[in-house]
Amino acid sequence: MRIYKAKDYKDMSRKAANIISAQVTMKPDCTLGLATGSTPIGTYDQLVEWYEKGDIDFSEVTTVNLDEYKGLPRENDQSYYYFMHEHFFDRVNIDVSHTNLPDGTNPDEDAECARYEELIHSLGGVDLQLLGLGHNGHIGFNEPGEFFEKETHCVQLQESTIEANKRFFASADEVPKKAYTMGIKTIMQAKKILLLVSGADKAEIVKTAFFGPVTPAVPASILQMHSDVTLVVDEAAYSKIA
Ligand code: F6R
Repeated sequence: MRIYKAKDYKDMSRKAANIISAQVTMKPDCTLGLATGSTPIGTYDQLVEWYEKGDIDFSEVTTVNLDEYKGLPRENDQSYYYFMHEHFFDRVNIDVSHTNLPDGTNPDEDAECARYEELIHSLGGVDLQLLGLGHNGHIGFNEPGEFFEKETHCVQLQESTIEANKRFFASADEVPKKAYTMGIKTIMQAKKILLLVSGADKAEIVKTAFFGPVTPAVPASILQMHSDVTLVVDEAAYSKIA
């Protein structure tokens, strides 16, 4: 695992955007695995800025996102589809027909998971997978205790997650109870992984996940076994490492 230390969130975002930009320059028709959440927003902003300056071209890029809530229509501003369009797809010259997320509106879980996994394989796999890190070590929606062998699957969200999400929705009924996510096996099959972590609140989990034992109790710890992982971490998130 290569570890790049960044000064702060902005510096982390710049370094991450540089790595993605290098990937797109080296292989313009690459497949990028993308993530949502607060961590990659600065990276998307930086890529958009370079696109606007004419320094990067996404016209041949294909994307596959890690996850999506089950049951949320695309227009819902809490869907990951909405997030990706707002923060990235609608701001660069990517061909929208080459962007992919699990279809949260497909009620047939087995069919949707099989379709998504097959799609990733048909693209020849993911060249560079972007990841954020949950406080409990989750990656995608792979929560502690899940088997490392899983491919794309449907997860039941933990009660605490549903509770925390309530405030973003008009009514309790709208809060998703399930999500589709790439599994750990799917993530581990990416050729390269770029993991971003920022903030003092993630310092403990950075230490546990990347300097502790590899265990399903800490899903991200499996990344220690991947042959090409780049971790870009800001000083605050690295503060518990000697
Ligand atoms: C996002 C995702 C999640 C987040 C993680 C960290 O697509 O799958 O695993 O990467 O929850 O979230 P933030 O970046 O908001 O701290």
